[in-house]
Amino acid sequence: MTNTEFIQRAFEAKGPKILAGFSRPLFHNLAGFLYGHRFDKAGYGGMIRHSEAGMVYVWAGQVPTDGVIVEIGCYGGLSTSYLALGSERKRARIYSIDPFDSDIDKQSRLTDHAVSLEDKPSRQEVLEKLRDNGLANRVELIEGYSQEVAKSWRRRIDFLWIDGNHDQAYQDFMDWSPYLNPKARVGFHDAHPRYGYPQVAQDVMKAFSSDRWTRLEHVKSIITAVSRT
Ligand SMILES: C[S@@+](CC[C@H](N)C(=O)[O-])C[C@H]1O[C@@H](n2cnc3c(N)ncnc32)[C@H](O)[C@@H]1O
Repeated sequence: MTNTEFIQRAFEAKGPKILAGFSRPLFHNLAGFLYGHRFDKAGYGGMIRHSEAGMVYVWAGQVPTDGVIVEIGCYGGLSTSYLALGSERKRARIYSIDPFDSDIDKQSRLTDHAVSLEDKPSRQEVLEKLRDNGLANRVELIEGYSQEVAKSWRRRIDFLWIDGNHDQAYQDFMDWSPYLNPKARVGFHDAHPRYGYPQVAQDVMKAFSSDRWTRLEHVKSIITAVSRT
């Protein structure tokens, strides 16, 4: 199956898949059950589903020792927490970018309004939550915008998790791809026409169409792949 065929099939798959079917549903649901309930979703104002959280945890655990994870779009820190917990044994560093509650006028120009700008969690609030859960020491919260932070970025990345402005997921992919290590993983959230945003679905199709990308996986609104090089 080509990457394009895989994604097309993911977009067309219907109904809940518990045990069998396309793209390892049994494993995803098991991961969701075992690892995807660690944090209080409502308390975090979180956006990821349990099976998605479980797999974020699993993928984070697959980075090399002392690896680097970059998250675009932290919001209240729910996915950040799964990234941090999942990569604990690898002692990975997590860099999570979000404007948090800074300069609301700028946010209203530069974000897609997927979340309410009125009561966004502050960087400090997210940091405290991470501290309460013993996760803050490996996480750096960067107050800013992915496209701006990318310009001065220096580290190689092992797992790039894209969940920021849904109108610019492809731009995020292009801006951050030069920093990926060989065999790095890229994951797009909301990349499914039914569970996510049509724009991100188009973007993921474009991003993963080349042979560079292998081991594609589809979990609800997530499409992820691993770089061959
Ligand atoms: C859907 S929420 C992220 C949810 C979070 N990943 C989770 O699962 O809990 C998207 C976040 O990305 C932020 N955002 C929007 N544009 C961004 C950009 N260019 N760079 C970084 N973050 C951005 C939004 O303000 C919002 O907080």
